[in-house]
Amino acid sequence: MVLEYLLDEILRIEHLKKYFIKKSLFSSKIETIRAVDDVSFSLNKGEVFVLAGESGSGKSTIAKLILKSLEADSGKIIFENHEIRNDKKSLEKIRMNCQMIHQDPYDSINPRMKILDIVSEPLEIHKIGNSDLRKKRVIEVLHEVKLEPAEEIIKKYPHMLSGGQRQRVVLARALSIKPKIIVADEPVSMLDVSIRAEILELMHELQKKYEISFIYITHDLATARYFGQRIGILYLGKIVEMGQIDDVLFKPKHPYTQALIDAISEPDPENLNKEKKIRINDPIEIDVYEGCRFRARCPYVIDKCKVEPDLETINKDHYFACYVDIN
Ligand SMILES: Nc1ncnc2c1ncn2[C@@H]1O[C@H](COP(=O)(O)OP(=O)(O)O)[C@@H](O)[C@H]1O
Ligand SMILES: [Mg+2]
Repeated sequence: MVLEYLLDEILRIEHLKKYFIKKSLFSSKIETIRAVDDVSFSLNKGEVFVLAGESGSGKSTIAKLILKSLEADSGKIIFENHEIRNDKKSLEKIRMNCQMIHQDPYDSINPRMKILDIVSEPLEIHKIGNSDLRKKRVIEVLHEVKLEPAEEIIKKYPHMLSGGQRQRVVLARALSIKPKIIVADEPVSMLDVSIRAEILELMHELQKKYEISFIYITHDLATARYFGQRIGILYLGKIVEMGQIDDVLFKPKHPYTQALIDAISEPDPENLNKEKKIRINDPIEIDVYEGCRFRARCPYVIDKCKVEPDLETINKDHYFACYVDIN
């Protein structure tokens, strides 16, 4: 697959791979999990790129590889036209410019630290300002995420805040050093449904205001459409479809994307007896890494699917990896 170069590209991921070896507890069997298997995509300045897929599809592993908190087996991460390697300068560059928001606020905030210290931590790590300036910046950024009164909030501990407020703290922390990119790994999935929308709205507002580029990781296509411009659909470590969100969600080309959409759509009475039912929860009995990964669950499977299809483009910026025309 050849990726088109974006006009205003800020980040580019090329052929990223990460396999894990899993040893069985009960036998000497060793299993290889291809968590991320030849993933390429790019991100424009000020754009929100969504990575969507079910649990276990490799989303968090990709986030960790980009932030270099996990070492890739192979592949490249290119930030502002420079490859990020493992030297100190490269790591500093990516960590200064790219911040992560985790699914669980408690993953990234220390419960024994006050909000002031939590939010100013990235500034301290990167030796930005003195303590007065850092405090000023913390108050400023707490206003940005609408945690008021900021002067009181800074004295509190995480357990004194609600879940939504804690995720605002996490967002403030990520914003503190004015990153160019934020990788948000399912940032609202642990929150009460009632407050998800307001946190998403806030992220959306700040993303637009500061033209931050976002990699928004989710299993929820509705929020993907609200927040993102382009999307990559991940299935077992591979991007099976990628393009403009409306193209992918309204004119899906891959049976897996179709299945994800069907799963959230109102059932159409005319389609209830549709023969081509995707077996989305069926157990998989074949070696999934041989041929197309989706073939065990795919109602359109043909003989050719024993050979893995490439991610190809039909028109500019809509890629999919499937031999069959499902439309
Ligand atoms: N540190 C690890 N060791 C072994 N297997 C892992 C590790 N991290 C992730 N995996 C496996 O890699 C696959 C992808 O995981 P992950 O990236 O967390 O997926 P997602 O975020 O989409 O749910 C899963 O099968 C998971 O069990
Ligand atoms: Mg995850």
